[in-house]
Amino acid sequence: MKRLGIISLFTLLFIAFIVVWNYSYQTGLEDAYIPMTNDNPTPSIPSETGVFQRSEFALDYANMPIDENHQRSLATYYDNRAYHGAPPSIPHEVKSERSMGANNCLQCHQNGGFVTKFNAYAPVTPHPEMINCRQCHVAENTKSLFKETAFHKVLAPKVGINNALDGSPPVIPHQIQMRENCLSCHAGPSAPKEIRVTHPERINCRQCHVINNKEVKDIGIFTRQKNGQ
Ligand code: HEC
Ligand code: HEC
Ligand code: HEC
Ligand code: HEC
Repeated sequence: MKRLGIISLFTLLFIAFIVVWNYSYQTGLEDAYIPMTNDNPTPSIPSETGVFQRSEFALDYANMPIDENHQRSLATYYDNRAYHGAPPSIPHEVKSERSMGANNCLQCHQNGGFVTKFNAYAPVTPHPEMINCRQCHVAENTKSLFKETAFHKVLAPKVGINNALDGSPPVIPHQIQMRENCLSCHAGPSAPKEIRVTHPERINCRQCHVINNKEVKDIGIFTRQKNGQ
């Protein structure tokens, strides 16, 4: 009687095992159910499209040898801008004084590359879709001022000190409006050497680099001050 009890207990356990195993095996075969709703779509960030559009060139940038003799530096980069974030002036002659730019400018500034007659690499424009280039970029005709002014350049954020810990990704110290295509300034032979990135192929820059969201104070109604005041 005792033996019969033990045997039937084991038989029961064995059947239970088969049932449970079979059930879990069958449910494993079903397609996973992932509800797709449009209630809360991941918001897209339009300001970043440039870097994704140009990501096909990222590996080329990573594999390019560095041309030490024709590098830009941050000093020359800032020198060509009235203030941090201002449109740089055009440091070379332009073909037609009256054209607004567009394809004229894009033949060199869309993809960059070495331009023998200027002995420099053409910087890639971060905004090829804004085709009236000369609305914002003007040729530099003189290095001197017409008249003394009280205007001081805003100091640019420093580089190399923007990470919390050694080896952690630095925060983006600048605004990203008009700087949609991170690769145009941070990769390739025309990138200033201090900010040329070691990893252009990572593409999704803002996965690791966040914006330094400094609060901008409301300065009230802006009135232009007289010089020297
Ligand atoms: C033949 C090729 C070529 C054409 C066409 C051309 N550029 Fe350039 N551009 C260059 C090169 C090369 C440089 C870099 C010069 C240097 O570093 O000395 C440059 C520099 C610039 C810069 C300075 C960028 C910076 O970061 O300081 C601006 C702005 C610019 N060009 C705007 C224009 C505009 C606007 C047009 C059209 C009217 C134009 N370029 C047409 C080759 C060209
Ligand atoms: C609405 C104004 C505006 C228009 C139009 C515009 N730009 Fe710019 N551009 C800027 C500003 C502002 C910057 C500087 C961005 C910054 O430093 O934050 C800039 C930066 C640049 C740079 C510097 C990139 C680098 O690596 O240093 C180049 C080159 C350039 N623009 C070329 C062009 C060309 C070519 C066109 C026409 C196809 C054009 N831009 C149209 C405002 C403009
Ligand atoms: C118009 C050129 C330009 C574009 C486009 C641009 N940057 Fe920058 N970036 C700079 C410059 C110049 C600096 C150096 C500090 C400054 O002047 O703001 C810099 C600094 C940085 C730094 C700090 C580096 C350090 O060592 O501290 C990070 C990170 C950075 N940028 C990320 C980005 C990302 C991500 C994007 C794309 C959303 C981007 N940048 C687009 C020009 C640019
Ligand atoms: C997977 C995370 C990750 C992604 C994606 C990423 N970065 Fe970085 N980035 C880092 C880290 C980590 C550092 C610090 C490296 C160090 O200190 O050695 C760094 C450093 C930098 C620097 C400082 C200079 C340097 O190379 O050390 C710049 C500029 C920069 N990144 C720009 C970019 C840009 C532009 C992109 C998009 C093409 C990008 N990063 C994508 C993690 C990332």
